[in-house]
Amino acid sequence: MKNFSVVIAGGGSTFTPGIVMMLLDNQNRFPLRKLTLYDNDEARQRTLGEALTILLKEQAPQIEFSYTTDPQAAFTGADFCMAHIRVGKYDMREKDEKVPLRHGVFGQETCGPGGIAYGMRSITGMLEIIDYMETYSPDCWMLNYSNPAAIVAEACRVLRPDAKVLNICDMPVGTLRRMSQIIDKNPADLEVRYFGLNHFGWWTSIKDKEGNEYIQQIREYVAQNGYLTQVEVDTQHTDPSWQETHKKAKDLLALTPEYLPNTYLKYYLYPDYVYDHMKEHPEYTRSNEVMEGREKRVFDHAKKIIEQGSAEGIAFEIDAHATFIVDLARAIAFNTHERMVMIVENNGAIANFPDDAMVEVPCIVGSDGPEALAQGKIPSFQQALMFQQVTVEKLVVEAYVEKSYQKMWQALTLSKTIPSAKVAKDLLDDLVSENGDYWPGLH
Ligand code: NAD
Ligand code: G6P
Ligand code: MN
Repeated sequence: MKNFSVVIAGGGSTFTPGIVMMLLDNQNRFPLRKLTLYDNDEARQRTLGEALTILLKEQAPQIEFSYTTDPQAAFTGADFCMAHIRVGKYDMREKDEKVPLRHGVFGQETCGPGGIAYGMRSITGMLEIIDYMETYSPDCWMLNYSNPAAIVAEACRVLRPDAKVLNICDMPVGTLRRMSQIIDKNPADLEVRYFGLNHFGWWTSIKDKEGNEYIQQIREYVAQNGYLTQVEVDTQHTDPSWQETHKKAKDLLALTPEYLPNTYLKYYLYPDYVYDHMKEHPEYTRSNEVMEGREKRVFDHAKKIIEQGSAEGIAFEIDAHATFIVDLARAIAFNTHERMVMIVENNGAIANFPDDAMVEVPCIVGSDGPEALAQGKIPSFQQALMFQQVTVEKLVVEAYVEKSYQKMWQALTLSKTIPSAKVAKDLLDDLVSENGDYWPGLH
């Protein structure tokens, strides 16, 4: 079997060790000859890079492993770039979550004003790594899950339309794992129909390969329990705040009982509930939970490996949900025509939605990339919500390109999460000053 050279961009990410462990676990399906970490923060990446050097020497000495902050060294000769950067890191995630609270609006990583602020920061970082990839390895594919994926995908569509970048999200995969547990099936044996935007969609069908439909059975369960399951099958989303989110899907389903909701819809459909929860502990948001949880765990593990000079007895968790990244890389490398939910330009996949919208739908993925499967017409309730949200995402990218304060103000005003143009303006002025040079100067 052919073997591959992979570069992980955002090598210092809390998800890097999990992805590396997952890649090691899949060497029979997707063999590597070379694995390189790339980050623009030398110190942050070094801890993970050193620990993984020790671990790979012990567990996969055949793979040439290195870590670097030099883009040329990182991207030369790469077949795939798996990208998960966070421009501004956790300091800025904390602001995305906390600045909106000062204005009576919830703050979140990818949704509402926090996601808009993060989008404005991410575009520059994404263009930078796409350009490195195209300069040093023009045939390389980028499998990108850097957030906010909806805005990043729209920016790629507008600013790098020919780049081989595929934007993906693990939420549909994670939630499908939960659904499969509810009906006692293997997720790999299920095929879904789904429509929406990233972090803004609905499942319309969950069938097994024989064509049996399970949506009714799953709806009955979710109407009682949300997506909370007996056994944790979606291991990434288990912290208390995530449990709350899975449970809340019950109230999302109540509003649109025919389809199964993406958990992120809670931010758009119940923003007052989210805000009320957050304002009980405005100093302690999800970023704090992650810094004390996943980030600490991952970096403590890495430091221990470095201290003892061996990874023996110290296991990084495998990012089980992330096998979809290997499935995607395999789909391209081996033309497997696997069916996967991806973020792509609509072009008719959702019949009554604009062609130039970046939507999230099931696709068949082969060596030429994804081909979207037609999902037909969607109901006007979802269509209207999606049109409002996709217009917000487009306005953010236009604001970035034109450096337009006005368009950014419009984007925030249009977001379903913000009550008025007055609040939007106050919030925008605060975000401009908190984001400093991470944002282009707006005028
Ligand atoms: P993190 O802050 O721990 O890691 C991000 C890393 O990116 C940092 O080490 C940082 O130095 C680096 N970085 C920032 N800008 C860079 C640039 N221009 N070039 C190279 N490296 C750069 O963050 P995390 O919590 O581990 O998350 C990483 C990313 O993955 C986030 O964007 C997160 O939202 C995303 N994510 C997406 C999905 C999905 O469903 N699409 C799932 C999980 C995580
Ligand atoms: C899900 C979403 C990602 C998001 C992540 C946040 O996986 O699909 O887009 O980045 O959750 O998780 P965290 O644990 O960092 O809050
Ligand atoms: Mn996501």
